Amino acid sequence: MSEIPDHILQRVHKLRAAIEQHNYSYSALDLPTIPDSEYDKLYCELQKIEQHYPQLVTPDSPTQRVGIAPLKEFTRITHRTPMLSLGNAFEANEVDAFDQRVRECLGVGNVEYAVEPKFDGLAISLCYENGLFVSGSTRGDGYIGEDVTSNLRTIRSIPLSLRTGKYRNYPTLLEVRGEILMLKVDFEKLNWDQSKRERKKFINPRNAAAGSLRQLDSRITATRRLTFFAYGIGVHVDGTVPNDRHSSVMEYLASLHFPVVKERSIVNGVNELLTYYHKMEKIRERLPYDIDGVVYKVNELMQQEKLGFISRAPRFAIAHKFPAQEVITELLDINIQVGRTGVLTPVARLSPVFVGGATVTNATLHNEDEIIRKDVMIGDSVIVRRAGDVIPEIVGIVIERRPSHARRFTMPDYCPVCGSKAVRMGNKIAKRCTGGLFCSAQKKQAILHFSSRRAMNIEGLGDKLIEQLVDKSIVETPADLYRLDSAVLVTLERMAKKSADNIMEAIEKSKKTTVKRFIYALGIPNVGETTAKRLTGYFNNFNQFMNAEIEILQQVPDIGPTVAQSIVDFFSEDNNIEVIKHLCEAGIKWDDGISKRVIEINNNYISISGKTFVLTGSFLNLTREDAKEKIENAGGKVSENVSKKTDYVVVGIDAGNKYNKAIELEITILSEIDFLHLLAQ
Ligand code: IVH
Repeated sequence: MSEIPDHILQRVHKLRAAIEQHNYSYSALDLPTIPDSEYDKLYCELQKIEQHYPQLVTPDSPTQRVGIAPLKEFTRITHRTPMLSLGNAFEANEVDAFDQRVRECLGVGNVEYAVEPKFDGLAISLCYENGLFVSGSTRGDGYIGEDVTSNLRTIRSIPLSLRTGKYRNYPTLLEVRGEILMLKVDFEKLNWDQSKRERKKFINPRNAAAGSLRQLDSRITATRRLTFFAYGIGVHVDGTVPNDRHSSVMEYLASLHFPVVKERSIVNGVNELLTYYHKMEKIRERLPYDIDGVVYKVNELMQQEKLGFISRAPRFAIAHKFPAQEVITELLDINIQVGRTGVLTPVARLSPVFVGGATVTNATLHNEDEIIRKDVMIGDSVIVRRAGDVIPEIVGIVIERRPSHARRFTMPDYCPVCGSKAVRMGNKIAKRCTGGLFCSAQKKQAILHFSSRRAMNIEGLGDKLIEQLVDKSIVETPADLYRLDSAVLVTLERMAKKSADNIMEAIEKSKKTTVKRFIYALGIPNVGETTAKRLTGYFNNFNQFMNAEIEILQQVPDIGPTVAQSIVDFFSEDNNIEVIKHLCEAGIKWDDGISKRVIEINNNYISISGKTFVLTGSFLNLTREDAKEKIENAGGKVSENVSKKTDYVVVGIDAGNKYNKAIELEITILSEIDFLHLLAQ
């Protein structure tokens, strides 16, 4: 074995300290201090030295975070003190009762609480002997857990030794308790990677964290980004561990370089507990990690001791849980919903369940591929997620609970509403009903879209009403809306004379509209509001748009071959032309104003539509962004550089090289005044 020179020893210490410092800043503080390339350089240098002098390798060297050969099974570790659970509160009155119990038991009027997020991860215990990380285990049954030491070693935010912190007087034995989790971003990245490799995606960050930590092959764990947050101490021997408050313990843990959560606080009394709860509930979605509630802990350790435990939970702490965002329920059936453009969407019919603060009976299954990928069968126990305002969805199934009567679902070959053939268009995942407006489901959706707020804005014409109108064959197309009268409307369910009159008034009012709204209201596949705006800016009038050839349509900014084809297809359908004709006959009017946007300068006719502009210098009457938006709204394009393709250069004050280039290429130059004049047309 080679002799180790002093300078090498020193270098190794320096490298390890620098690497671990970076691990700490990056993983625990989320404040990278050096670029990745710099980190890699330090790491490689250390690796090389250790290869040359293997006797230098210590268990706390950063090179030991890569995982080891697979284990046959996890060995069991008995916790020095049991890992207990927490009592739960769901409602404010339960929190009130908790605070009251605490005050009564302590004989005080007011209690100080340390409040923290309740992480939705896995409880873990880390054991440090003489400052070195020696073992780590899962909670297990609270008394005996599984030894996951080599997996935990790979987690960069877990210190391998306590010597890197500023605290020198560390305990000879320290058991740190906390939670392992996967940050939302890391979860998204992992699932993205899984789907790229055609592997099954993880249901949620918690499952991904559990799956990653409980790997017998720690080299796999090393490829997953896991995070640790410390929230307490199990046992400790020696050292200057604070014995006054839980909040001081947290600061102490932070000083030893354990990651502790920023979103913790100290509050007084029950009202402040609830304020913290509501604050956390509000920011929950924006937090980088998943939480399922908050934890209230009596802050004074003496008071904690006095309060003690009941069965397996402390009397000094409680978890105040948020309404669950994920629950398990039974999938009763799968139905098909037909959308406006005929897309068939499988919808799960569920045994009613309270989730995310509401009762849910339906959830989307997106499409056939999703059903296959998630291995969903009718009769399965499914995990339903409802978070914030998003549509409830099925994130996965509980395979262990699959009943013997579970059956597979297949997408139908025919539209369940109108019986027309349902096909996959090109390489699209979704199946579509080919019935068009013959299909009553598409009819209803089309009319609903036509009258929606951002389209023709017919107030009061909701889905229930449209359903009746279509089912009774009173309305077949959007044009039929303009033939309605209140005498017909009052014959419908839940329709009083007053409401009928209001609807008639709203229908009448909708006749005066804009081209943009009208184009959008038609519901041409792939033509949303933005596209409608672009089209409005480009064409001089609706007729010109309706008769435009595909090549012309593709010249409109942001319109590619798919959208252009979709427009051409729409107008080549006789039914659609007929509906438009009826709508015009019914008296729908719009401002076709854009056609006038042409000015004459020195015998040149200048227009915006279809032209490329370059802006240079600063303007007195409008900002660059304004100018750009106005040009684009009127169907023009703005580019950065002057080239032969530029049609006009608008020149403001202090115009620079672009102005010279425009003169050189003999491009028409417009002053700000010309430009304003053009816009005002
Ligand atoms: S303190 C004596 N603090 O909740 C109990 N636990 O039901 C000590 N948990 O599985 C636990 N966030 O992993 C505590 N800030 C937090 C927590 C937390 C999540 C988990 C813990 C345990 C469960 C207790």
